[in-house]
Amino acid sequence: MNGEATKPIQFYGKVPQSNIEALEDRFGRHMSYLRISVTDRCNLKCTYCRPSKDTFCPIAHEAVLSFEEIARVVHVASSLGVDKVRLTGGEPLVRHGISELIRMLRDIPGIRDLALSTNAVLLKRHAPSLAEAGLKRLNISLDSLKPERFRKLSGGGDLNTVLQGIQAAVKYDFSPIKVNVVVMRGVNDDEIAELIDFGTEQDVQMRFIEFMPMCDGNSWSESHVPVSEMLSMPEVRARLADVPAENDGHAAARYIPLADGKGDVGFISPMSNRFCDGCNRLRLTADGKIRACLPADDEMDVRMVLRDGGSDKDIAECFRRAVLTKPEVGVYNFEEHGRARSMIQIGG
Ligand code: 5AD
Repeated sequence: MNGEATKPIQFYGKVPQSNIEALEDRFGRHMSYLRISVTDRCNLKCTYCRPSKDTFCPIAHEAVLSFEEIARVVHVASSLGVDKVRLTGGEPLVRHGISELIRMLRDIPGIRDLALSTNAVLLKRHAPSLAEAGLKRLNISLDSLKPERFRKLSGGGDLNTVLQGIQAAVKYDFSPIKVNVVVMRGVNDDEIAELIDFGTEQDVQMRFIEFMPMCDGNSWSESHVPVSEMLSMPEVRARLADVPAENDGHAAARYIPLADGKGDVGFISPMSNRFCDGCNRLRLTADGKIRACLPADDEMDVRMVLRDGGSDKDIAECFRRAVLTKPEVGVYNFEEHGRARSMIQIGG
């Protein structure tokens, strides 16, 4: 052990409180949310997520954690106070048997919130088995409602297939269903109002997210649209019940009620208002590295521990060490090149 104090934390899951030792970082933040990338493969090639071909090096199959390995890591994480898990990718639905993993994770004591992020291309096919496995929360990416534009920005995706996936999610009663839009200047920043209306029609929550510099080969500054600018668009303001003043503090995520009284819409500003203050997130990459900060490249190799016959205590130690690398504020690399991993490999 590295000697830092561990404290019991408030816990609402099935594990008795006395078994929980908080994963606390150097700045007093408690880690309770683990995002797991189950594969780095994806059936789309969205411009904001995928690196250029020459820098993308797919993870070898044998390096990818098995479901049993993932479940073991989650077991240990839950004993350390993690109570929320999200499955991401790449695209998690391209991983064979994903519903089986959901069943395994659902049964882990202490995990009270299980979610999945998908591009919905395979959702129509998988919705019944995901629902049956007990998944409730879904985040879906949808960046345009114009078929040709969607095809271009997703690297060949079929909009209709995605829309059918969203309809299947509604039909199978996933809740909440959040639809994420990465807003990019000159690409889809003219569609915010239409996408808000789409959310109302489909009864899903729309969330507009600032473009983050997570990928090489993209000109970030030209494409980035701050939330303040999204909220200044007349056609967007017209749909909101209550537009906050320009300088209403530094909320990283704002949920604003819709003018028609049918729900609200989220505006997420990872760049113009940083999340770091209250960050409770850890990430597990598909090849078994624990990562404590999205833009920081420090990682702890839990796969090596798993495959070298490590104990649960060794896995817990891996978490503790990773948490110690978590910077107070994540620093993004605005250069065109130089990231160890891009979004597709970390899972957002
Ligand atoms: N900027 C902002 N969000 C991103 N995501 C992926 N890449 C980026 C990026 N560069 C998030 C979005 C998207 C999901 C797949 O991951 O929410 O919908």
